[in-house]
Amino acid sequence: MTRTGLSPSLSESDSMPFLDIHPFDAADRGVKNGCLVKVLSTIGEQMFIANVTNAVPVGHCFAPIHWNHSNCSDGKVCTVIPANTDPVSGQPEFKATPVEVKTVKTCLDAQIVSTTPLDTDQLRELSASFWVAQSCEGGMLYTLKFSDSEKPLTEILDVVLGEESHATVSASTTSAQRAINMKDNVVVFAAAIYPSEKALQQPDIAQLVSPQCEPNAMHGFLAGTLKAKSRTICTCKQVTQSEIEAVLDSTPSCSVQQLGELTGAGTGCGSCTSELENMIGSPKRCTEKRSDTEAACGR
Ligand code: FES
Repeated sequence: MTRTGLSPSLSESDSMPFLDIHPFDAADRGVKNGCLVKVLSTIGEQMFIANVTNAVPVGHCFAPIHWNHSNCSDGKVCTVIPANTDPVSGQPEFKATPVEVKTVKTCLDAQIVSTTPLDTDQLRELSASFWVAQSCEGGMLYTLKFSDSEKPLTEILDVVLGEESHATVSASTTSAQRAINMKDNVVVFAAAIYPSEKALQQPDIAQLVSPQCEPNAMHGFLAGTLKAKSRTICTCKQVTQSEIEAVLDSTPSCSVQQLGELTGAGTGCGSCTSELENMIGSPKRCTEKRSDTEAACGR
């Protein structure tokens, strides 16, 4: 991610340091899709966002190596792997580290989007149990998880904006607190805080600092009516889930090749092809990238 992490579209493709875990293992441990989990080995522990999936066998879990302390508070998987190497090749035993997985209770989640990056002091002052930063069109998006059951939005505004927080417009509903700060009629900062169990339903607030942001988006954000942006399925050709679903609704027998001809999806590197096949085989399975197993963990 030293280079790919700078690309908003690639960052969006996999935005969190995640842990793939099989539904059976997840159910045994009370792990739900999207919740925070701690991975413990004999030498250390790190936190990840659970991705409950059949893509890994029972008894195995997987975490990518790409995240580090410059883009998240945790998620550096190498720190739980002992420094044992193959005597000939020098290869570390990445695939043979016994670990346990435990849930980490969080009460509140927050999203912050800012045209200027937060510095490490600000991130520390926010006192989140976990945070992750990703680049987005026009700025940086931060996702934070808090163990406190009460975290006033004003505290976040004070830490990030200081005196400028007085010029902020904020709104509260029963399920979230939201605020935006504007300069010259352009959003330079937005934040939302909401209960952790609602995290998967939140709209993508990164769009508020995008140069293409519609004025209605900021009103919708404050009113709590802003819809989630459709997820990008094909990063190469920037084809979204809703575009693919529209084609599949009108042409249910569409093949991957035809989808490519109609939308461009799958016609670049090809890495989205299996997901396109899944959508063709069972469109409802793909309503959320990682939701195919939510039912298995009771959500
Ligand atoms: S992600 Fe490369 S072709 Fe779809």
